[in-house]
Amino acid sequence: MLKLNDKIVITSALPYANGEIHLGHIVSTYLPADIFARFCRLNNKDVCFVCATDDFGTPILIKAEQENKKPEDYVKFWFEKDKKDFENIGIKFDFFGQTSSKENIQLVQHFFNELYKNGFIYEKEIEQLYCENCKKFLPDRYVKGRCPYCGAEDQYSDGCEKCGRVFETKEIIDPHCAICGSKPVLKKTNHYFFKLSEFSEQLKQWLQKNENLQKEVKNYVLNWIKDGLKDWDITRDISWGIPIPLKQAKGKVLYGWFDNHLCYITCVLKQKSKEFWNSSTIYHFIGKDIVYHHYLFLPAIRLGEKEYKLPDFIPVRGHLLLEGKKFSKSRDWYISINDFISSFPSDYLRYYLGAITQYSQKDTNFDWKEFQAKINNELVANIGNFIYRTLSFISSKFNGIVPEVKLFDESDKKFEQKIKSINKDVGELIEKLEFDRALKKILEFSDYCNQYFQNKEPWKTKDKTCLYLCVNAVKVLSVLLYPFLPDSCEKLFNQLNIINEKIGWNNIKEIKPGHKINKPEILFKKIEDHDIESKLKKLK
Ligand code: MF3
Ligand code: ZN
Repeated sequence: MLKLNDKIVITSALPYANGEIHLGHIVSTYLPADIFARFCRLNNKDVCFVCATDDFGTPILIKAEQENKKPEDYVKFWFEKDKKDFENIGIKFDFFGQTSSKENIQLVQHFFNELYKNGFIYEKEIEQLYCENCKKFLPDRYVKGRCPYCGAEDQYSDGCEKCGRVFETKEIIDPHCAICGSKPVLKKTNHYFFKLSEFSEQLKQWLQKNENLQKEVKNYVLNWIKDGLKDWDITRDISWGIPIPLKQAKGKVLYGWFDNHLCYITCVLKQKSKEFWNSSTIYHFIGKDIVYHHYLFLPAIRLGEKEYKLPDFIPVRGHLLLEGKKFSKSRDWYISINDFISSFPSDYLRYYLGAITQYSQKDTNFDWKEFQAKINNELVANIGNFIYRTLSFISSKFNGIVPEVKLFDESDKKFEQKIKSINKDVGELIEKLEFDRALKKILEFSDYCNQYFQNKEPWKTKDKTCLYLCVNAVKVLSVLLYPFLPDSCEKLFNQLNIINEKIGWNNIKEIKPGHKINKPEILFKKIEDHDIESKLKKLK
């Protein structure tokens, strides 16, 4: 049935260490990866689920300078903060590292050396903007000016926020230093380039052969290759980064996109080994804005270095909109994690986002009213209702002891069949990374459970078989929902008094007659209108 490998590496894109994790990241990347990791662990797989903060790069250095902090201290702050935020919404990594760790620096320099030795990195003299007042080269965000395409004022030199175009620093009109405002000059400097173009054919073949990659994504990446790949400038003349390990490259560091994805490997090496990496099925969960880096740059670097296998899956999901509009922290069109979890349990967020996010590039829309409706109608009135009515009935009418079984009638038999096969149906969807569809299946099952209960009318008949089957259906639900709603399901394990049992997805052990359950409590509470109205008001 399940064709999962026994060893599984799961990574989720690394958050930049310069601001809060926001819901958009959760939707596309962290929640899907965590759901999948929890599912794999329930399937007894050897799972290594890792992430790290992405510490290097100009934007981070600039922010640290603005706050008068050493970049090391600045990124440490965000590392700690992100770590807590992830814990707060039940994202459970096996390891959470930093790209600036010494282990990562070592591995990245090793990669550089191998690629250099293998002839995939070359040196070229280019011209870069230089501020004579600050005495430094000005890459990326160190330069502001007018967009060469649409003319928008006050844009950073790595791209225009108005028209969305990406360009080179030198192209910007009326450049000035973002620190002191002076007009920079062009100055010659040596940069190192990665020969991405040389991997075109290999990348094409890998993409075409790999059946696990989403077709829509694959197609446009293949088009990029057809249009011709450009070599990558992997050098920055700044102090915050991984030093290029060559004598003649003193003072130069690697571009952040050279080192960050290598931290996936560093983190797995920290927990496991190179053999583990190379014999695992590898999943890199990402958002759609970093497809280029993960479908081209990352595999090319691994191909050139030759020691670490390429990913098997690179699941891409879309952006998150808030009430139909782009999230924007500066315009206060925004929900922070703290904000959310101070009002609602984190499982509500996981449920809602899990239910509305497709396995595709399509954007997802966060809508407070829909959130309320889904929680109230699905989690509370359907799933929660079935669980609570079953457990409270056993508790009050049978002293908490699961009753013995009588003869099964047709509807009991049919229900038993459903209870025994639902894990397979849901599991297949999760394996295909279709988490929204898996939740829907679970919901249908729970709906069926409610109908069965309703038809059996145990409050009139005290039908023991019915309660025995229902409590087993509750147990199955607790397992199926665990990847999505870990906190609630742990409470439910406790109510079912199965906390010491090793829970597995495929052999969900029967709850036998005579088993005593603990006192049931309502797991999911209704969201009131005023809870939502205050949220909407805060936005407007
Ligand atoms: N920090 C990057 C971003 O937020 C993502 C890095 S993912 C990795 O866009 F592959 F590079 F690690
Ligand atoms: Zn300056």
